[in-house]
Amino acid sequence: MSTATELLTAIKDVGTDSARGGYSRHGFEAPELELREWFTAEAGKRGLDVEVDRNGNIWAWWGAPGPDALVTGSHLDSVPGGGAFDGPLGVVSSLAAVDALQAKGFKPGRPLALMVFAEEEGGRFGVPCLGSRLLTGATPAEAALALKDRSGDTFADAVKAAGLDPSRVGKDEEALSRIGRFVELHVEQGRGLVDLDAPVGVATSILAHGRWRFRFTGEGNHAGATPMTSRHDPMLPASQLVLSARWAASSVDGSRATVGRIEPTPGGTNVIASTVDVWLDARAPNDGRTRSVVERITAAAKQAARDEGCEVTVTEESYGDAVHFDSELRDEVVSALGKAPALPTGAGHDAGILAGHVPTAMLFVRNPTGVSHAPAEHAEPADCEAGVEALAKVLEKLVG
Ligand code: GLV
Ligand code: MN
Ligand code: MN
Repeated sequence: MSTATELLTAIKDVGTDSARGGYSRHGFEAPELELREWFTAEAGKRGLDVEVDRNGNIWAWWGAPGPDALVTGSHLDSVPGGGAFDGPLGVVSSLAAVDALQAKGFKPGRPLALMVFAEEEGGRFGVPCLGSRLLTGATPAEAALALKDRSGDTFADAVKAAGLDPSRVGKDEEALSRIGRFVELHVEQGRGLVDLDAPVGVATSILAHGRWRFRFTGEGNHAGATPMTSRHDPMLPASQLVLSARWAASSVDGSRATVGRIEPTPGGTNVIASTVDVWLDARAPNDGRTRSVVERITAAAKQAARDEGCEVTVTEESYGDAVHFDSELRDEVVSALGKAPALPTGAGHDAGILAGHVPTAMLFVRNPTGVSHAPAEHAEPADCEAGVEALAKVLEKLVG
């Protein structure tokens, strides 16, 4: 029988990133593959039957597989230089909750599975929740297989190297039909529970969220020999995009816009770039507001590109509308817990993708820093155990 903290300690050295700080555990790269093996071994120790679906998601069954299974889980991959809790806390809590239930001799009255989703952060291939998007058909197989990582390897290459068959990647009705209800436990990515003075809460909604890639093309040239009057520097409209993201999101209620990744080519200090790629992450409480933020930013970026004599192309890399979690399931979860505050989140989750197909709920564990996607992300051991206890109660009630 292990606690969540003991399980997190067991994986604390996997995928540490000395250059960025924190963890870089990208989908199907060595550290994430090591974590997947670790999870498989831990599930085996608990007598769970492990299988990997066509899209690389791991299922660990307590009892015979579905239909109408209760499924819980999260992911083991991270953003570049991420924290220790986003993803792994949900996975280790599912193992610890099984321990707690097995210790008291509980026998599930319906199929129960723990899941580890593939490439949730999109840290390698750019599309978040890729495992659940493929499972549900939200992202078509052809689009996913062609995605490239920073070294030019495709998602098809990555799944093949991981022992999967690229021709079988894609919507998996059979696997999806086994999920009756889904519950994901996650570290909170904000200070809502700190302010509410509660260790555990339940989710109400997720913001609409998309990612866009802007490619600005200008004229590569010499930083010293090119007069300021004869430049076509794509870094200028790229910079305008960054500033416009702040301005546009500040003017649309409840919205957020971020540029966290920018890549000039060729990327030399004494070189005017020939192209600059900029990735925009935009979110808002609904589709209309998200689109409005992105339209304002796009208009400003296009104008800035024209002013500098540059070209710009815009590609939507992913999009998901706002999610409102099933209120009946939330009521059941809250009644299993006795009491728990309900709060929205600005972060995306596989639970949000599944919510369009099956009743889905989320449990959040208090994060004293409120920081996430960064090494300062944290949850105190006592709160992690409160999360495990809450998850065990929910599983017991929903499968009992
Ligand atoms: C994932 O955590 C996201 O919200 O981007
Ligand atoms: Mn995340
Ligand atoms: Mn996550």
